Amino acid sequence: MQSLFDQPTNASPRIDELRRQILRHDHLYYVEAQPEISDRDYDKLLEELQDLERQNPDLVTPDSPTQRVGGAPVGQFAAVSHSVPMLSLANTYSREEVEDFDRRVREALEGAAPTYVCELKYDGVAMSLTYSNGVLALGATRGDGQTGDDVTANVRTIRSIPLRLHGSLIANCTVRGEVYMLNETFMKINETAEAQGDKTFANPRNLTAGTLKQKDSRHVAKRQLEFIAYWLDTRDTDLVRHSTNVELLHTIGFPTSPAVRRCGSVDEVMKFIAEWDEKRFDLPFQIDGIVIKVDSLRHQDELGFIARSPRWAIAYKYEARKAETVLEDITLQVGRTGVVTPVAELRPTALAGSTISRATLHNQDYIDELDLRIGDAVVIEKGGDVIPKVSGVVVAKRRADAAPWHMPHVCPCPRASALHRPEGEANWYCNDSLCPWQLRRRLEHFASRDAMDIDGLGEKAIAQFIDAGLLTCISDIYRLPQRREQVLELDRWAPKSFDKMVRGIEASKGQPFHRVIYALGIRFVGEGVAKVLCKAMPSIDQLMKAHHEDLRKIPDIGDAIAASVVAYMGEPDNALEVQALRDTGLCFVGEAPSELSQNLAGITFVFTGELTTVTRKQAEEIVEANGGKASGSVSKKTSYVVAGAEAGSKLKKAQELGVPVITEAAFLEMVNYQPTS
Ligand code: IVH
Repeated sequence: MQSLFDQPTNASPRIDELRRQILRHDHLYYVEAQPEISDRDYDKLLEELQDLERQNPDLVTPDSPTQRVGGAPVGQFAAVSHSVPMLSLANTYSREEVEDFDRRVREALEGAAPTYVCELKYDGVAMSLTYSNGVLALGATRGDGQTGDDVTANVRTIRSIPLRLHGSLIANCTVRGEVYMLNETFMKINETAEAQGDKTFANPRNLTAGTLKQKDSRHVAKRQLEFIAYWLDTRDTDLVRHSTNVELLHTIGFPTSPAVRRCGSVDEVMKFIAEWDEKRFDLPFQIDGIVIKVDSLRHQDELGFIARSPRWAIAYKYEARKAETVLEDITLQVGRTGVVTPVAELRPTALAGSTISRATLHNQDYIDELDLRIGDAVVIEKGGDVIPKVSGVVVAKRRADAAPWHMPHVCPCPRASALHRPEGEANWYCNDSLCPWQLRRRLEHFASRDAMDIDGLGEKAIAQFIDAGLLTCISDIYRLPQRREQVLELDRWAPKSFDKMVRGIEASKGQPFHRVIYALGIRFVGEGVAKVLCKAMPSIDQLMKAHHEDLRKIPDIGDAIAASVVAYMGEPDNALEVQALRDTGLCFVGEAPSELSQNLAGITFVFTGELTTVTRKQAEEIVEANGGKASGSVSKKTSYVVAGAEAGSKLKKAQELGVPVITEAAFLEMVNYQPTS
C-alpha cells in the first residue's frame, strides 16, 4: 500500500508513455500481425499502467488500454441516433441482377463510366464508431438504421479497434465496419459451451451479436471479437474515392479487408465473385457474399439512395451449398470426458469441395427440433460454414414406418455402462472410468500434437494397441518401449516404425508441465486454462491438494473448472495414474516465472522452411521460454530468420531487408538446446 508521502508526484508522463507504447503494440499485434515484443513484456507494460492508474484514478481516460478489459455492467444500453443513417444493401444472386445494377448506375450517371470496387461481405454485425479529437467516443449498433444501441464499453474491448486514431490527419470522424469472430474462436467457445451443457450458437454471427448485447463488458473482452472497417466519413480531409478511403482507414489505424479490387466492367466483377466463391472456404472467418460499390464518392452522391438501400452499392450473396442425402443411421460417439453425442451417418455426398459422410447431431434436443428419423431424406449444408450440418428433413419422402429416435441410455462400448444426464444439461455422460471408447479418445488426446506430441503413435496405432490389450491406461504408453515383440507381431508394424514410436515416446518426456496437465484431459482444462493453472500452482502436489476455493482465487478459473479439477484429482484411479506417469519421468513441476531464462529477451525470430531436429512449434516454445518472441512474418524488426530446407518467400524477404539468416543448428546452439535422450 502506498502512503500519501511516497505517492509519485507526477505519474502523468509515464502513464502517457505507457499508453502510447501499449496502443502501438496492440496495433502491431492485432492489425498488422507483426508483433515486436513478447506477450510477457506486453503484460508487464499493462500491469505497470494498471498500477499507476490504480494509484491515480483521476488520470484514467477512456482511451487508456486498461479500459479494454471491460468495466462494471450497464443496466440498459442508451439509444443513439445516427447522424448519417446506417443503410442496408439490396441483394443479388445472379449475373443478370448484377448487369441490371450496372445498367441502373450508368443510366443515373448519364453515360459517365463508373469504376466499381468489389470487397468481401463480412458476415458479422455492423458497427458505427465515432471519434472526437482522435479518441474513440462512441460505438453504436445499427438498430433500425436511424437509432441504435450505445455499446461503447463493449466495443472498447475489441483489440483491433484503435482507442485513439493514428497520426494527426483526422481527428473527428465516423467509421463503419463489421464486428465479427474468427471461425476458430467460434468453434472453441461452442465446444466449451457444448461440453458444459450450455446453449451453443448456430454460427459466428449469432455468437458475435449475442456477445455485443452483453451488459457486462468484461465478458465481451474474453470473446476475442474482431473488426474490419469499410466506410469513413470526415470533414478533416477531402474524400474522393471509396478505395482511397479504405487505404486512409488503414493509415489511421484500422484493419481493412485484404481483398479489395477495382473493377471496370461486369465481367471483372463476376470474375472476382467467382474467385471468392471458391476461396471463401479457406478464409479463417465467414463471408456471406461480395459487396459491389461505385468507387467515386461524387458518383455515389449523384446516385443517392432509395428507401433504406444505397443506389451505389449492392450485395452479391453466395448461396449456402446444399445437398440432399439419406440419414442411414444415428450412431453414438463417446468423447474423452465421457460426453456421448449422436452422430448422423450419411450416404456419402459431395458438397462444396469435400465428401460428407458424417455430421454431429449434438444431442437429443437438436434431433427433436428437426424431427430426424433414421432413413429420412435430409438436407445437409455448408454455408461458407465452419462445419457441414444437417439442416432439414424432406418430410414428403419419409417412409411410413420411420420412427422418432431416442437416445439410448447405455454407453455404446462393449461394457455398456448406464449413461447419466446431469440436472439442467442436454448432454448424456458415461461415467465409467474403464470405458474403452473414452480411453481411446483420452489416449488420442494425450498423444496429440498440442498435448504430448508423440510422433509415431497415431489414432490407428492407439486403436490397435487397445484391441491387443497393450494400452489400458495412459501410463501404459510409457511401457510400450518394453513391448517390442508384442507390437511387432501386430499388422503393419516393422522395427523401423516401432523405433520411431519409441523415440517419440521418449521425446515426450521433455514436454513442459502445462502440456502434461493439458494432456491428462481434465474436463474444461484446455491449453489456455492449463497454462494459467500451472503458472499459479507450479507443481502437481499443489494442484492435487488444492481446494475449490484455492482454485477459484486464480484469475480466469471459474466454478466449473475448479470443480472439475478437484473431482479429477480426488479420483483414486487418477491419483494412481499421475503417480505412474511421474515415475516414468514426466515433468510435473513448472518453472517459477522468475527462474525462467531471459536470454532471448527483446529478440524476435521467424522460422521458415523445414526444420529437422525440432518441430516449428517446439522451436517457438524454446524462444518463448527464453523470453524471446516468435513471429510469423519477417519485418525490419525481425532479429533473426531461422531457415530450414526449402525456405521460400520469408527467406527472400529477410535477404531484401538485410535481416540476419541463420541455420537451425546455429539457432539450437544459441539456445543451448539439449535433446532429450
Ligand atoms: S457497406 C450502405 N461493405 O452488410 C452500405 N457492408 O446489408 C453500407 N457488410 O449492414 C455497408 N461487409 O453490416 C459494406 N464490405 C462491406 C460489408 C458490409 C459486410 C454488412 C454491413 C451492412 C450489411 C448490408
